[in-house]
Amino acid sequence: MSLIERYRDRLPFGPEDPVVTLHEGSTPLVPAPRVSERAGVEVWLKLEGANPTGSFKDRGMTCAVSAAVREGARAVICASTGNTAASAAAYAARAGLTGAVIVPEGKIATGKLAQALVHGARVIALRSNFDRALELVRELADRHPIALVNSVNALRLEGQKTAAFEVLDELGEIDALAIPVGNAGNVTAYWKGFQEVGAAPRMLGFQAEGAAPLVHGAPVEHPETVASAIRIGNPARWEEAMGAVVGSSGAIRAVSDGEILAAWRLLSAGEGVFCEPASAASVAGLLRHGPGEARRVVCVLTGHGLKDPQTALDHAGAVVPCAPEFDALEAAVLES
Ligand code: F0G
Repeated sequence: MSLIERYRDRLPFGPEDPVVTLHEGSTPLVPAPRVSERAGVEVWLKLEGANPTGSFKDRGMTCAVSAAVREGARAVICASTGNTAASAAAYAARAGLTGAVIVPEGKIATGKLAQALVHGARVIALRSNFDRALELVRELADRHPIALVNSVNALRLEGQKTAAFEVLDELGEIDALAIPVGNAGNVTAYWKGFQEVGAAPRMLGFQAEGAAPLVHGAPVEHPETVASAIRIGNPARWEEAMGAVVGSSGAIRAVSDGEILAAWRLLSAGEGVFCEPASAASVAGLLRHGPGEARRVVCVLTGHGLKDPQTALDHAGAVVPCAPEFDALEAAVLES
């Protein structure tokens, strides 16, 4: 079922409105015994990589693109570190709209680039970073009749808040939500969702050390991190994110690339869950900074590991070459 249909009473869509959907949402929420053991609390993983295009962006994109169709838009546009681009391209294709995505040149993961291209979007590689791309794209959308589907679009947050509903529907109550923070739309959306149903878990947002403007309290001109999805120096939802953190007695903290990769490895080899590096920042943050007084924590794993096969191969074990003979194969399988 489409996310809009499921939550229509809590979303700004009427029964006659057009719905552009790939049946997003309803993602798995799985217990994480190994992470729980390390963190000393009950940890659950919200697998947002199980959405149709492999990231949480689909929740917001079904709403943003449906509204664009309702308003008669012919084209959608976004700046992106990759996942928004992939999602916008897919939903634009679904709706029969033209899609254009602006990405930082050479800095988006291979899977995301492939997605944007196969869905037929015009992919523009800007010789700069995400922050500059968003600045330019906002100006472009002001001057042309093109719907902007970044999370500066309120409909994106409306869709993404539904993940908070799903978490509470399954667990009843949680003490804290650990979440990676880039442009700060998702942490804002979860907090909105929790508040709408009268819940107030601590919002624990995590940024990569080299791209942690909310931690430093100032924009970062040249953000850098292995977690390319959150390589952002000047989040558009800065104030809303800080509002969520203050309102929930939470925090925004930094994690190193090494900690992100260690958490990513623990998830993939220890839990059987393959997420992209940015997603592992939620678990890395919980492990580094601790759960505080929380006893039950949900970590949001925002995107699928297959999004970024190159980083995975760079940081995983090597394959074992083998001659096509039985003895060689036996040795290759059994020898450690
Ligand atoms: N995790 C992943 C996998 C992401 O792709 C993003 C953002 C985030 C976390 C952070 O979410 O921006 O709402 O704070 N990706 C955007 C994009 C910027 O263009 O795909 P946020």
